[in-house]
Amino acid sequence: MQESFEVSASGGGYRVVVGRGLLKEVVADNPDAIFMVDDHLAPLLPIPVNCRILVKALEANKSLECMSEIVLKLRELGANRATHLVAIGGGVIQDVATFSASIYMRGIRWTYMPTTLLSMADSCIGGKSSINVLGYKNLVGNFYPPKEVLIDIDFVASLDSEKVVGGLFEAAKICYARGYQDFQDYLSDGTAAQMSVDNVQRIIVRALRTKKWFIETDEFDQKERLLLNFGHTFGHAIEAGTNFSVPHGVAVGVGMIVAVEYAKKRGWLSPTGIERTSNLSRHAKSMLRLDGGSIVAVPAAIDLKLVMEKFNNDKKHLSDTYRMVCPRGAGELELVSEAKNDDTHRDITWAYESALREIGWQTK
Ligand SMILES: NC(=O)c1ccc[n+]([C@@H]2O[C@H](COP(=O)([O-])OP(=O)(O)OC[C@H]3O[C@@H](n4cnc5c(N)ncnc54)[C@H](O)[C@@H]3O)[C@@H](O)[C@H]2O)c1
Ligand SMILES: [Zn+2]
Repeated sequence: MQESFEVSASGGGYRVVVGRGLLKEVVADNPDAIFMVDDHLAPLLPIPVNCRILVKALEANKSLECMSEIVLKLRELGANRATHLVAIGGGVIQDVATFSASIYMRGIRWTYMPTTLLSMADSCIGGKSSINVLGYKNLVGNFYPPKEVLIDIDFVASLDSEKVVGGLFEAAKICYARGYQDFQDYLSDGTAAQMSVDNVQRIIVRALRTKKWFIETDEFDQKERLLLNFGHTFGHAIEAGTNFSVPHGVAVGVGMIVAVEYAKKRGWLSPTGIERTSNLSRHAKSMLRLDGGSIVAVPAAIDLKLVMEKFNNDKKHLSDTYRMVCPRGAGELELVSEAKNDDTHRDITWAYESALREIGWQTK
């Protein structure tokens, strides 16, 4: 059954539709649109789609150089201000489409069809683009939401369990950030690396409706929405410190466990907070494994010094303080600022060591 809701935004609201068979509908309804498609997915699509712009889902393609190529391609295809762009793919294609649609002739209409669980349950709403510049991840970006987000659940079938788990971690993050009851409701949806279509849809709708509250309350990342960075500051350093061998969603899951360990080390949690955050960590750990075996690729021994270096360089920190989202008190999230000194450095390193030991990943 299809479900839909509206997200309001200052530049105009947009509709989100979740269901099956939407690819067929978007192709039939938009014969004149320019389709921009993940080049790995294009040959696998179950129906013919006139894919006129193919983009490889690589970080390297989220670059300003690639934006010039896309703009030139749009020009060659005769795109004008009335052109409708339809983008089909995961978060990389979303970033490329958001940015290029926003700059081409000062902005053209676009529709987004996310194809990874991460993009379906999280990034597809909120309207952000993030572009890498000379090795700096997500340094440049803007807000330019599509006119419509169409989530075709059928795309989930071809995702491997690592990609499913990565998407679930982002969904868990959103629900936990909203409140402990929301997280418990999320758990009751029956999250697992292998899920029925109904469960997948329930989780996506729950995560997006919850995220809708954050983005409508704080569209431009000034306050409440910053809590959605939970797991990200610690996680980005794991991604970068392993040369991106740990994928984004998985790193976010591990990053949430690190944040919990740090809060425990700092003595910030009440007994209720310890119980609630332990439930979150237990959930994250259970998602990383299946029947005792690992369902996500275990990286080679992690170089903690390098991870700490990457953590230090995170663009969200200020010159004399680290800024990160951590649980406090009864487990509610807060954006905390910690002085950059030996104590903090030692406790952050401790938190990484403790979290990685808990999930059985080696360090060196
Ligand atoms: N703009 C935002 O708000 C936002 C938010 C979160 C993440 N991101 C960005 O998104 C990127 C990560 O995105 P992602 O994890 O969604 O995936 P992705 O776009 O990086 O794709 C990951 C892999 O999955 C493949 N793939 C995509 N759909 C598939 C399907 N249905 N079946 C099988 N394989 C499929 C792709 O070809 C690729 O190999 C990062 O660059 C991250 O920075 C952006
Ligand atoms: Zn993320």
